[in-house]
Amino acid sequence: MTKSRLAFIGAGVIGLSCAWRAASAGLRVTVVDPAPASGASWVAGGMLAPVTEAWPGEEALLELGVESVRRWPGFAEELGVAAGQSAGLRTEGTVVVATGSGDRAELDTLADYLARLGRAVERLSGRELRRLEPALGPDVRGGLSVPGDLAVDNRMLLAALRTAAERAGATFVESAARAVLDDGTRVTGVRTDGADLESDVVIVCAGAHSGSLHPVLTGLVRPVKGEILRLAHRAGAFPPPSRTVRALVDGRPVYVVPRDGGGLVVGATQAETGFDTEVTVGGVRDLLRDAERVLPGIAEYALVESAAGLRPGSPDNLPLVGALGPEGLLVATGHHRNGMLLAPVTADAVLQLLHGRPVPDAMRPADPARVTAAAPSAGRGHRYPEEVARARVDQR
Ligand code: GLY
Repeated sequence: MTKSRLAFIGAGVIGLSCAWRAASAGLRVTVVDPAPASGASWVAGGMLAPVTEAWPGEEALLELGVESVRRWPGFAEELGVAAGQSAGLRTEGTVVVATGSGDRAELDTLADYLARLGRAVERLSGRELRRLEPALGPDVRGGLSVPGDLAVDNRMLLAALRTAAERAGATFVESAARAVLDDGTRVTGVRTDGADLESDVVIVCAGAHSGSLHPVLTGLVRPVKGEILRLAHRAGAFPPPSRTVRALVDGRPVYVVPRDGGGLVVGATQAETGFDTEVTVGGVRDLLRDAERVLPGIAEYALVESAAGLRPGSPDNLPLVGALGPEGLLVATGHHRNGMLLAPVTADAVLQLLHGRPVPDAMRPADPARVTAAAPSAGRGHRYPEEVARARVDQR
């Protein structure tokens, strides 16, 4: 038997992380993407924030995010060594702050919920928060400190992942993937804008574009637009915060993620307007107004970039990680707001599946069978113990 040929469709953070892990394990990896390291992963803010993004009713996502953030330091260290360049992890932590009384009540709901789940968060007054982060303005009345919620420079991360994947032996085909090909029973390859690629196992990691690649994926992933801004500190302006700052401003969420060298990423709007990546005047206005309420000093910063990305939303906003449809087809998509956060645990889960082993426990709710079972015509879902055998690769 010859060594299985693996094709990863999509070179965003999920595709690159999975491809790097698979190539490092000695598998034969090709990555198909017309523009590697672009799309939503390039636009992203880079928060690794399972706790401060948590909300009642999303317990499975919280558990998965907590598991992934636990893996992040090791993932970043290993990646840094493999790539010979930093993965861009920042460990200063996160504060989440409120302005008006309605915002404070909402943060109290979040804090009570986290306390019920046994997750300790520290409640702080506005004054205590300003002692931690002098850049916070007087409108900040209270909030929480969550040191375990981290951040990553998404662009440093993508560069490191591509280098590490190539060093591990992955080949890149810079062509658009149009369809996963199968013979009715198992996958045979990938149709691209160039030559078709023969493959034994295809892993769809194409983010918001995943839904068009095979009939079993139709309707399972939707684009969720997010607009984001990049600012740069200028001489004489108030220094930037060192922690990620998440805020509620009159009920609207905004976040500010620091970068090395005085950069700030301000995000993000959220809208379901199809495959639309134009930046709107209203989006920029809202982000700047709300961020300035929390961090007044940014008025003196340079506005250096505005961009929009498409988050891949699944029917229940949990990712889709596992086998579905013809033999040899795996998916790792639907990560919605959490692609950066969930990259380490997703890559580990995909490698487990490729080796015919069970995924990490926290990943079990991401089994695509949960959504295909509800819509049988969308595809054949399979529970994990069965599916691991179906996509297993031959390594000889
Ligand atoms: N993870 C934050 C966002 O998607 O805006």
